[in-house]
Formats: sequence, C-alpha cells, structure tokens
Amino acid sequence: MKKNWITLLLLSGLLFTACQTDKRESLSDMIDRGLGVAMEQALLMAEKLEKEEGKLPKTINKKGELETSNYGWWCSGFFPGELWYLYENNPTPQLKKYAEMYTDRVEPAKNLTNTHDLGFMLFCSFGNGYRITQNPDYLDVMITGAHSLATRYNSTVCAIRSWDFNKNVWQFPVIIDNMMNLEFFNWIAEKTGDQQFSEISHSHAHKTIAHHFRDDYSSYHVVSYDTITGDPHCKQTHQGFADESAWARGQAWALYGYSTMYRQTKAPEYLEQAKGIAAFIMNHPRLPEDKVPYWDFDAPDIPNVPRDASAAAIMASAFIDLSELVGGEAGKPYLELATEMLRTLSSPEYLAEVGSNQYFTLMHSTGNLPGNSEVDVPLSYADYYYVEALLRLKKLI
Ligand code: GLY
Repeated sequence: MKKNWITLLLLSGLLFTACQTDKRESLSDMIDRGLGVAMEQALLMAEKLEKEEGKLPKTINKKGELETSNYGWWCSGFFPGELWYLYENNPTPQLKKYAEMYTDRVEPAKNLTNTHDLGFMLFCSFGNGYRITQNPDYLDVMITGAHSLATRYNSTVCAIRSWDFNKNVWQFPVIIDNMMNLEFFNWIAEKTGDQQFSEISHSHAHKTIAHHFRDDYSSYHVVSYDTITGDPHCKQTHQGFADESAWARGQAWALYGYSTMYRQTKAPEYLEQAKGIAAFIMNHPRLPEDKVPYWDFDAPDIPNVPRDASAAAIMASAFIDLSELVGGEAGKPYLELATEMLRTLSSPEYLAEVGSNQYFTLMHSTGNLPGNSEVDVPLSYADYYYVEALLRLKKLI
C-alpha cells in the first residue's frame, strides 16, 4: 500500500514538472513579446524627446529622471540603432521617421577625434540605417567617421588609442571595449576597398589577443602601452572591481568582438579566442543560475551585488552569433545559454512594464559601479543589444 502511494506521489510529481515545462512560453512568443515591449517603449521615448533638439536617451539619474546626452556621449548611437532594428522587424512609417530623426542627431560625431567610440556611435546608428535603406548620405557619414577614428591608431603600438584622460598614469590606454570598433572598420574596408581599415582592425585584434587576456581567457579592462617600445607598461581596471578581476561587461565586449572578427574575416585565431572567452563565461562558477551576470565576476559579496543586464544582452547576442559560426552540435550550448539569458531578461524581473522605467526596455544594468555612476539602472545599450539578440534568435527559429 505504502509503495503504491510513493509511486503515485512520484508520478504526480513528474506530471506536475511536465505541466510546468509545457507552460514555458514558446520562444517565438517570448521574442514577439520582448520586441513588442521594446517597440512601445522606444516609441514613447522617441515622442518624449522629439522636440528636445539633439537629445538622445542615456539612462535614469539618481533622482529617477531620464538622463540624456548629445551626439558626443559614447552611447549616442544606440537609441537610433534600436529604432532601426525595430523598424526592420516592423516597417511602419512612424518607426522610420524616428529612426531617421534620431540618427541625424548623431551625425556631428563623425568629426570627433577625441574618442574611440565612433564604432558604437556611427555603426549602430548610420550602419543599421544604411543596411536597411541604402541611403548614400549615411555611407558618407560613416566614411568621414572612419577617417576620424583612424587618427587614433598608433603604428608603434599597433592599436587604436581608447582614452585621452589619466595621462600621468597611462601612456596609451586600450580598453577591451575597443574591440567593438573593429566591425565598423572591417565593413568600411569592404565597402570602400580602402584596406588601411582592415589592416588597423587586424593589428588591433592581434595586439589585444597578445596582451589583454589571462590564461583562463578572462580579460583585463585597460592595458596601457609604452609608446616607444609598443609593449604594455600596466594592466588595470577602470569600471571593474579590481585590476585582476573579470568585469562582466568587459568579458561581453571581448566575446562579441572576437565572434564578430571571425564572422567578418574567417581567421581561425579569432574563433579560437571567442571560444576561449565563451568557455570562461559559461563555465564560471559565479555565473548565476538565471544567467544574468553580476556586474563583476569577482565582486565581493556575491550574490548580494548588482547585476548587469547590459552584459547579459551583449553576451546573448554574441553567443547566438557564435553558435551559428561554430554550427552543429558544438554550437548548441552557446545558443542554449543565450536563450536562457534572453528568457531571464524577458521576465518581469528585467523587462519593464510599458510606460514605466522612463521608457527604457530593460531594468538592472550597471554602468560604472566604482565611479558610483549608473548602478542598477536602465542603459540605452542594454536595450539595443537585447533587441539585436531577439532579432538574431528570431532568424534561427
Ligand atoms: N564602453 C564603456 C562601457 O562599456 O561602459
């Protein structure tokens, strides 16, 4: 009798689990829901800032208000880029009008030579706009911008200079984030036939493989090079917990940067690098069960520290790319991890209710915790890469 009861209990347990599993939202429903929220929020944001000339959304400030920037902030291209992705997914005249309007606001960035972030600023905005509309003016803007960015390349160091501040410590700082400029340069080289851009891109990527990574494929944030010898003279962090820690978004930029380099060039060393970085992230004992990283993998007081939804969104997008590049059975774990990340980001824990969150889509990102800036807030790039990742996933299912 007792045995029967136990069997019954086990069976009902299994049935319950099966029902729970069945209840999981289908991937296509999740993608449509996430993109739907992103679209509604982006339109509300676009309407709110329509009359505020030159303004682009950035984050929420400490008073809970919307914080904006002009074209000069490194994130200026993300909102227009997100609008282009949303327009591509759902080509309405309203989305196109706003995508064009906010892209135009970024144009003056093309002449900046005091920042390395032109890849983010111009390729996310004008790059997506050009890919979708073939507007020749957008190509002109990007060519001008590529020449501006190339002024920051140093042929002794063989890399693009990241920052111009802290000159008493750093001779020639290069941050891992700088890998994100290389897609722009490879694309410009392909489009214009001007090979200086792909040469810069290869040199920068090689130099970064040589000096930015530890044996476990985790990345330093800042490597500063001696401008006479071209060798590193210090390795530090700026936005991470410690010089020797693994700042979550830095690992995300590294993964995305090398997957993209491999996609564009097919050079096997970039694939090996991307796979090594992927293994570091996916096998990390402090990657939480829900797969949204803490702001730094080595932050003290884990699990009681802020998460970084932006790192998860960037990683998800890169893992989907990598799963396709690797292909077959070997690519599946990357896709599964990306899907888990996107499921968590699409849950009420991270996905805002329409009309809330100052019209950003995702909550709980961390920009610069050591600087006490942008902690546990929405960030425009979290939204951009979330939408990009959902669209990449949509193409696969
Ligand atoms: N590129 C700056 C950051 O990731 O915060």
